[in-house]
Amino acid sequence: MGVIGKAAVCFVQGASRGIGAQYCRSLIARENFQVIASCRKPEASQELMELKKSYPDKLLILPLDVTKEDTIANAALQVDKLFGKLDLLVNAAAILHPSGRGETSLKTTSAEDMAKTFQTNTIGPLMVAKHFSKLLSKGDGLVGTQGSGESEKHSSVLVNMSAKVGSITDNGLGGWYSYRMSKAALNMATKNLSVELGRGQRRTVCISLHPGTVDTDLSRPYHKNVKNLFSTEQSVGMMLKVIDSLCMSDSGKFFLYDRSVMPY
Ligand SMILES: NC(=O)c1ccc[n+]([C@@H]2O[C@H](COP(=O)([O-])OP(=O)(O)OC[C@H]3O[C@@H](n4cnc5c(N)ncnc54)[C@H](OP(=O)(O)O)[C@@H]3O)[C@@H](O)[C@H]2O)c1
Repeated sequence: MGVIGKAAVCFVQGASRGIGAQYCRSLIARENFQVIASCRKPEASQELMELKKSYPDKLLILPLDVTKEDTIANAALQVDKLFGKLDLLVNAAAILHPSGRGETSLKTTSAEDMAKTFQTNTIGPLMVAKHFSKLLSKGDGLVGTQGSGESEKHSSVLVNMSAKVGSITDNGLGGWYSYRMSKAALNMATKNLSVELGRGQRRTVCISLHPGTVDTDLSRPYHKNVKNLFSTEQSVGMMLKVIDSLCMSDSGKFFLYDRSVMPY
């Protein structure tokens, strides 16, 4: 795989299954798109192995554990060597809770579980942004919609996969302390990133994005209570429409899959 002139280079981390794997399938089907998928154990991801068979030249798979910064740095080094830029970064990896189920009350919280959730859902994506921000600044602006004036132009797009339950304003139910708090903090990271990566000539549009409730392992324990359960194809199809429409003035916002803006 060599450097491709003006291909859009997209990096999806947390791509072994669920929404991340679907982003890879949908992006790779686009003409002149190059996809880099990362996950903890690439060889264990049947979905990625199958995709690699269909698109041997368009897909690169790299090992990356968001809780291990050296693996993030190594992946960034590989992407730099092969492509020298990024047009799109999707931070998809997350856990609901180490047990697979969110806390129902204060008495079921534990410091250890909360720290593990933050490590994956909040600190991990920020460390990915840290190591990939230089590559994002070198993007060709091939993802999103460019504004008219020079100050409206962007080089790249960064998407942090968030969750509606991370909205402080929207929280009427309580529960799920670790997941809610980790996503609320991730939203703050998105806002901060939008300020820092929105300066200068080579800007990155940074957003938080809620996918809807989607038929994946993460939400599986709660499916029976869901009225509108999306397939990964449906959700990613809608989210890519949002991503394709993004311009500089959208940076720092928290979007739902239908492009409505969620209050933080
Ligand atoms: N599904 C929903 O209804 C829903 C709703 C709102 C928001 N979201 C958000 O959407 C995103 C994708 O979720 P999903 O539903 O696709 O979940 P999923 O099917 O459970 O997939 C989660 C992904 O995260 C990866 N991951 C977990 N810990 C990791 C680590 N330490 N390092 C690297 N990768 C790690 C998993 O890889 P392994 O295979 O290695 O475990 C897997 O690829 C998440 O950010 C989630 O919070 C989902």
